[in-house]
Amino acid sequence: MADAAQFQDRLLSLGLARVSEAAALASATLIGRGDEKAADQAAVNAMRDQLNLLDIAGVVVIGEGERDEAPMLFIGEEVGTGKGPAVDIALDPLEGTTLTAKDMPNALTVIAMAPRGTLLHAPDVYMEKLAIGPGYKPGTVTMTMSPSERVSALAAAKGVSTENITVCVLERPRHEELIAELRSTGASIRLITDGDVAGVMHCAEPEVTGIDMYMGSGGAPEGVLAAAALKCMGGQFFGKLLFRNDDEKARAKKAGIQNFDRVYTRDDLVRGDVIFAATGVTDGSLLAGIKREPGWVTTETLLMRSKTGSVRRMTYRSPMR
Ligand code: FBP
Repeated sequence: MADAAQFQDRLLSLGLARVSEAAALASATLIGRGDEKAADQAAVNAMRDQLNLLDIAGVVVIGEGERDEAPMLFIGEEVGTGKGPAVDIALDPLEGTTLTAKDMPNALTVIAMAPRGTLLHAPDVYMEKLAIGPGYKPGTVTMTMSPSERVSALAAAKGVSTENITVCVLERPRHEELIAELRSTGASIRLITDGDVAGVMHCAEPEVTGIDMYMGSGGAPEGVLAAAALKCMGGQFFGKLLFRNDDEKARAKKAGIQNFDRVYTRDDLVRGDVIFAATGVTDGSLLAGIKREPGWVTTETLLMRSKTGSVRRMTYRSPMR
């Protein structure tokens, strides 16, 4: 594992923002065009080109898929010039491909970088997720509590009634029971159609987003990215891998997972310092989407470092090419 002191996160962070911006800009002309694949491919190409300009010896640990499924930014792909610190990269060049294709809110480009060997190599399976924002004691909510117990516990910790708690959940048939149980508590539910990295991040700024807690299953790779974001913004995150068949278990084994029942905390998923960048593609409650005006294009990027807890919002304007 690289010595964390060699991580150079301060120097690398601006480079990471450029990578995120480039991916968002590349997908800009594909917003609302109904073509998920083209939007994703444009973001992937741009992200990879920019990553390869960075002075890092990077390895993609959360990427577009396994080598035989993804032509680029596959898991295990080496990125960067090879001249700098050894780092793990977790990325999702377009988190919310359908949101982008349909011009719906909260599509983002997302990337995290950490010293080599410190990010969980999550297989491409589902993960049960639970997240709350900063300021709560450890154990306020747990994976062993039922959804309604979590709502009551969080309401008590916040000093409000359960009616004043808002939970974000992906709208999926598999979440019907979860949603019914949450409704029985009187809590409000923000249903999202896609994009649970943003869903989890919303918990970190409840006063801005109105969301107190995230619950439900989604992609495990997105779980690692969400944990990286919360490590910078503050907040608690828990994730448990879910396996639908032996093939998924085999994938997990290949990725080095031994205990299939483990509940990972935020700091199990991201074991050291991390830098995180996300750029808005479509407008959302955390980030503005790409704005195109005659001759100009503008993006907004969230750039964060866990070491310092610094959160920068950066607006970038560039002549339209
Ligand atoms: P893509 O951008 O890759 O389409 O993923 C969007 C997403 O909504 C993730 O945010 C989430 O973790 C996952 O898909 C949920 O998977 P599913 O659509 O199978 O429920």
